[in-house]
Amino acid sequence: MDTSQDSTLTALVTGATSGIGREVTRQLAASGWRVIAVGRDQQALTELAQASELITARAADLLEDDLAALVPERVDALVHAAGISPDGGVEHTGAEGWSRVFALNVTAGAQLVRHALPALRRARGTIVLVNSGAGTAARPRNTPTPRASTPCARSPTVCASRRRSTGCGSRPSTPAPPTPRCSPGTWTGKP
Ligand SMILES: NC(=O)c1ccc[n+]([C@@H]2O[C@H](COP(=O)([O-])OP(=O)(O)OC[C@H]3O[C@@H](n4cnc5c(N)ncnc54)[C@H](OP(=O)(O)O)[C@@H]3O)[C@@H](O)[C@H]2O)c1
Repeated sequence: MDTSQDSTLTALVTGATSGIGREVTRQLAASGWRVIAVGRDQQALTELAQASELITARAADLLEDDLAALVPERVDALVHAAGISPDGGVEHTGAEGWSRVFALNVTAGAQLVRHALPALRRARGTIVLVNSGAGTAARPRNTPTPRASTPCARSPTVCASRRRSTGCGSRPSTPAPPTPRCSPGTWTGKP
């Protein structure tokens, strides 16, 4: 979709078919943003597209498909909310399982940032990488998870995309009860 000539703010949101990403998608659209909503669940994508004409559903597997092809001409915000955790904790998770966690939670986010940077720079846009509160405290069964889903692992992406070096802002967001922990972001011109 060519959104470059349109003044409507545009967000690319992964994990848009469930949980945090879906809510972000809905709230951005309700606020007047155009949202490119990415996920694999076709039914959930259809429901999103039906919920608002500002939502464009894009079916994609972030571990298989061409990530560059997901990035529209205009990107004011990139929200990487797609994420998985190992099913069985460290005792029952093999190397392949951990590779998938890192590939989705970390590598796919980093690659999306890379591909979206030219558009984000033009828009002086914002990058939001959703982490896990598990990164701030060890918990039974998921002690290693922080390194795959929290600032520990995602911070290199964040650091690499700081406004000083890239022309756009970034904020790792760590939703964790009881108090959501969100960085203030490095660019305050956008919500
Ligand atoms: N829920 C919480 O309380 C909480 C708290 C703190 C942090 N987090 C973190 O926030 C992130 C999202 O959590 P959530 O609760 O919103 O998770 P969720 O409801 O399970 O949603 C995960 C999303 O990731 C997408 N996804 C998974 N594999 C994918 C793939 N291969 N390609 C493309 N998309 C894929 C799923 O879409 P499809 O299945 O349609 O592909 C889905 O939209 C995770 O990293 C989680 O650790 C969650």
